[in-house]
Amino acid sequence: MHCMRNVTADLIWVGANDRRLAMFEGVYSVPAGVSYNSYLLLDEKTVLFDTVDKAVRHRFMENITAALDGRILDYLVVQHMEPDHSASIEEIAGKYRELKIVCNAKTLAFIKQFHHFDIDSRVIIVAENDTLVTGKHQLQFIMAAMVHWPEVMVTYDATDGILFSADAFGSFGALNGALFADEVDFSRDYLDEARRYYANIVGKYGPQVATLLGKAANLNIQMICPLHGFVWRQDLSDIRDKYDKWSHYQPEEIGVMIAYASVYGNTENAAEILSVHLREQGVRTVMYDVSVTPASEVVAAAFRFSHLVFASTTYNSGIFVTMEALLADLVAHNISNRTIALIENGSWAATSGKLMRERLEKCKNITFIENTISIKSSLKEPQLEELALMAAKIAADVNQ
Ligand code: FEO
Repeated sequence: MHCMRNVTADLIWVGANDRRLAMFEGVYSVPAGVSYNSYLLLDEKTVLFDTVDKAVRHRFMENITAALDGRILDYLVVQHMEPDHSASIEEIAGKYRELKIVCNAKTLAFIKQFHHFDIDSRVIIVAENDTLVTGKHQLQFIMAAMVHWPEVMVTYDATDGILFSADAFGSFGALNGALFADEVDFSRDYLDEARRYYANIVGKYGPQVATLLGKAANLNIQMICPLHGFVWRQDLSDIRDKYDKWSHYQPEEIGVMIAYASVYGNTENAAEILSVHLREQGVRTVMYDVSVTPASEVVAAAFRFSHLVFASTTYNSGIFVTMEALLADLVAHNISNRTIALIENGSWAATSGKLMRERLEKCKNITFIENTISIKSSLKEPQLEELALMAAKIAADVNQ
């Protein structure tokens, strides 16, 4: 049976939620599920904005049938070709034979790569600032390359001031009956997942996100309809401010994220003592065992906090495997503008400190707190002084 909600009087959310998906994109755990949003505009012409993942296609098709209530579907606007939004294009095109597909030239190429139906006779190619009048509504297409794939565009409904923002402003988490961010305690219950989504999905593309924010600043946006997560109709500046910070790799909070990899607990011990010293000096800290906490959570925390500490044992003459993977992830996501301290451990030849530094030196505008603390197997008295000194240096930097 269909399950949908009105966004406005003539705009209907026809998406669906997936709470059984173990790993989004095969990489990111989604313990609270994920929503695949699709929106149907019932103007003189009917317009569908994107489709959904194949896992929820059945409910999606039921929703569209019910929302159209016997009308034909005139247009499908394809804003993003990643299959979580494009998997159902072929089924929609097959069912609604009068349908025209509105997309840009790059999207057309991607549709042909992913699908096998005659699209050339049904496509309307649009470019930057092209418009489509559907009756009362005027739609303006705005290119948003690399937010999060090269073909991405967003759509501005100038009539109602609605930005259909593709992956931008999205979040992990199923909607659970709510549709609007103001229906939930977003800051308390969903901001972490919105940050984790941003950092891991589009975090690598900060300059391109900033470009989109610049274009959006010229529009009178009253509502944001992303392809995942909640619709924004109140306090839009809250999420825009977060995106402004995230896209410029500016920390949201002054504080210290400590990520450690420890085989027998000795490296963890050093990380814990450092955290105690920092707390005693009034510095906010969070700690993650990178062998336990999914990398996507640690990456998100790195986007949140101003100071980062990485502590790793040496393993097979290199960085411990889970820390190696985390650092690769952080470098890939262009983490920048952070102050970093390092702790290494090694029983016969500690190399992890030097190697972690080499990895992180690839990032922009990184300041290292000197010196790297080097532990041989377990902490000894001299290292306690070094940890206290490292904490004092970090605290001085945090509190300046
Ligand atoms: Fe939600 Fe980049 O797809």
